[in-house]
Amino acid sequence: MATINDNYLKLKAGYLFPEIARRVNAFAETNANAKVIRLGIGDVTEPLPEACRTAMIKAVEDMGNRDDFKGYGPEQGYAWLREKIAKHDFQSRGCDVDASEIFISDGSKCDCGNILDIFGNNNTIAVTDPVYPVYVDTNVMAGHTGDVNEKGEYGGLVYLPISADNNFTAEIPSQKVDLIYLCFPNNPTGATASKEHLKAWVDYARSNGSIIFFDAAYEAFISDPDIPHSIYEIEGARDCAIEFRSFSKNAGFTGTRCALTVVPKTLTGSSADGSSVEIWKLWNRRQSTKFNGVSYIVQRGAEAVYSEEGKAQTKALIDFYMENAKIIREKLTEAGISVYGGVNAPYVWVKTPNSLSSWDFFDKLLHTCNVVGTPGSGFGAAGEGYFRISAFNSRANVEEAMKRITEKFPIT
Ligand code: MLT
Repeated sequence: MATINDNYLKLKAGYLFPEIARRVNAFAETNANAKVIRLGIGDVTEPLPEACRTAMIKAVEDMGNRDDFKGYGPEQGYAWLREKIAKHDFQSRGCDVDASEIFISDGSKCDCGNILDIFGNNNTIAVTDPVYPVYVDTNVMAGHTGDVNEKGEYGGLVYLPISADNNFTAEIPSQKVDLIYLCFPNNPTGATASKEHLKAWVDYARSNGSIIFFDAAYEAFISDPDIPHSIYEIEGARDCAIEFRSFSKNAGFTGTRCALTVVPKTLTGSSADGSSVEIWKLWNRRQSTKFNGVSYIVQRGAEAVYSEEGKAQTKALIDFYMENAKIIREKLTEAGISVYGGVNAPYVWVKTPNSLSSWDFFDKLLHTCNVVGTPGSGFGAAGEGYFRISAFNSRANVEEAMKRITEKFPIT
């Protein structure tokens, strides 16, 4: 009989968001009249910007005539999109990122997992706790961890706790780690990192030969001018960091699918015989072999984000969701609940009231208010006692959800 990848058997029951959907569907089946408001998974609700739609319609027309028709595109993405990204997202902020170092993909989640293909199996890996579960689960799948304990921690991983005590930014480890996952603005806590904090990580990585996986999927939600949007705003980051970005949240592409990963050509890792190898070459080889690129139509839609109209329309989307975040913060604070994040990030990180566990609060909120959020413990052991509320929804739903929570939820 064919054997399976036994590492999958180490995974906890289900991926967090499908597990939430399962519980919500079970509730909805027996409560058919309940109008459930979903502030759980960070999925966008507002329509695609007009500039992106217009560009994609035009691209569909291109595909309908022989002269403009496109077959396979470059596995790395079309040069016109990569050049716009390099100019607008990086060079405009003083980051030394060349278009050839940008790889277009169908999602940051996929890239965060796929990147492990090009790294060895014996690296020491650090993640924050709580953390976006994809970083942990993909390492479990790849066989980079031991078994899970009763707290949900996997053997072999280095967990860096983040809490209100350290402003949800991890202490630099005293031990040497090889790969470090950082996410700013942070999912799930909504925290941001100062330049000084990122510099401390870059200095650490450079002196230990480590590589930082920097997930900047939420950078567009930063409004504070002092907060860096990219790790490459920090000197030396080209030698120690890979950055992941996405069009999902800024331009509403969760269902359209387009993202990017930056792999600087100056970044190196060590082969088994100790020689230094360019990471860019490995990622380029991996993508050329396992990926055929994002569709021409979608890349044209992503390109439109950088037009004048596209910039204005994506800014309006971001402002809209951030106003939701403000309403969530204010209403919950008025109700006596402690909240964090939600200022430069679309997630509000809530201390569960009445000392409830994360899942107990989830169940109570679902049954009492018909509102769905994400249990903090789903993001790691240190997320226990917290709850994440997403600002991605319509204004009417956010206002209604806050009304229900403040009026119906018994906070003692
Ligand atoms: C989340 O809710 O954490 C996000 O939707 C996850 C993702 O973008 O994959």
